[in-house]
Amino acid sequence: MTLNDQITEIRSKFSKDLKLAKTSKNIEHLKISYLGKKGSVQSLMQFLKDAKNDERPILGKQINDLKYEITSHLENSLKRLLLEEETIKLKSEHLDVTLPGRKHHWGRYHPVTLTLNKILDALISMGFAVETGPDVDSDFYNFEGLNFAKDHPARDMQDTFYISDDLLLRTHTSNVQVRVMEKSKPPIRCIAPGKCFRNETISSRSHVFFHQVEFFYIDENVSFVDLFATIDEFFAKLFKKPIETRFRPSFFPFVEPGMECDIKCEICKGQGCRLCKDSGWLEVFGAGMIHPNVLKAGGIDPEKYSGFAAGLGVERLAMLMYEIKDIRLFTENDIRFLKQFDL
Ligand code: PHE
Repeated sequence: MTLNDQITEIRSKFSKDLKLAKTSKNIEHLKISYLGKKGSVQSLMQFLKDAKNDERPILGKQINDLKYEITSHLENSLKRLLLEEETIKLKSEHLDVTLPGRKHHWGRYHPVTLTLNKILDALISMGFAVETGPDVDSDFYNFEGLNFAKDHPARDMQDTFYISDDLLLRTHTSNVQVRVMEKSKPPIRCIAPGKCFRNETISSRSHVFFHQVEFFYIDENVSFVDLFATIDEFFAKLFKKPIETRFRPSFFPFVEPGMECDIKCEICKGQGCRLCKDSGWLEVFGAGMIHPNVLKAGGIDPEKYSGFAAGLGVERLAMLMYEIKDIRLFTENDIRFLKQFDL
């Protein structure tokens, strides 16, 4: 077969194929099978190799013409088909420009987390370092090591969820004290934030699940004065202004002497309201000088060292800072409540 015969054959096959092509995809395939490296037009190059020198330019031009012809047919068809396809697509898609846009819902911090972070920031800036303890703990770290003897009536002060005889849900973050003493040497300045659990009647002021931050300082010659100064400084940092405090003697087996610390109710400014039970004061801290038996349980010599410890309720402080009147709101996960709090 001569080159001319072949060109005629390709041309007629191409025009049939082109008529059959109904989509832009079909055109892409035709492009490959006619103009691609292994396509029919490329195969004509064989003629050039075998041709005599003077014939070669003529043959080459014929092949190029065919290439140009096929290319322009393909391009025209492709343009037409793409336009058709676009029109069909637009017709099938309805765009209602009056629909409201989709809103982005940004996550935010829970008010307890916000308060906890503020408490930690204040204490960290005063030189305390964070330690954590387990939520499920042994009787030893939660009670016995803290000077609660097995039959000590003070155990009833904290209604405990027991898992077995020896395992319980910690009732306070004081369970971190002996743990930290066991592994470190004074001076110790420690903060222990975490969840606590007590089998109490749920009301607007107390819950079975809440958070505490414990902080304690052990060194030579630590006294009650250090405790008062630390608490005052802590509140001033937290509320960014001096806060009126009130200290009352109290009993916890792991401190001697022990006390409770109240702050002036910020909601009613001391006038009396539901949150402060009309007293004008809110109890936020238990505190005291660490009992020598606790230091001993942690392997620290009470003759040489002394220390203070304090534990505060995070929800209590959050209620005060954000003027929240019911502790149950924290765990109800009502989005209308949660979305009111920002950094
Ligand atoms: N652990 C006590 C409580 O939960 C608070 C406390 C901590 C008291 C440290 C004294 C010292 O009530």
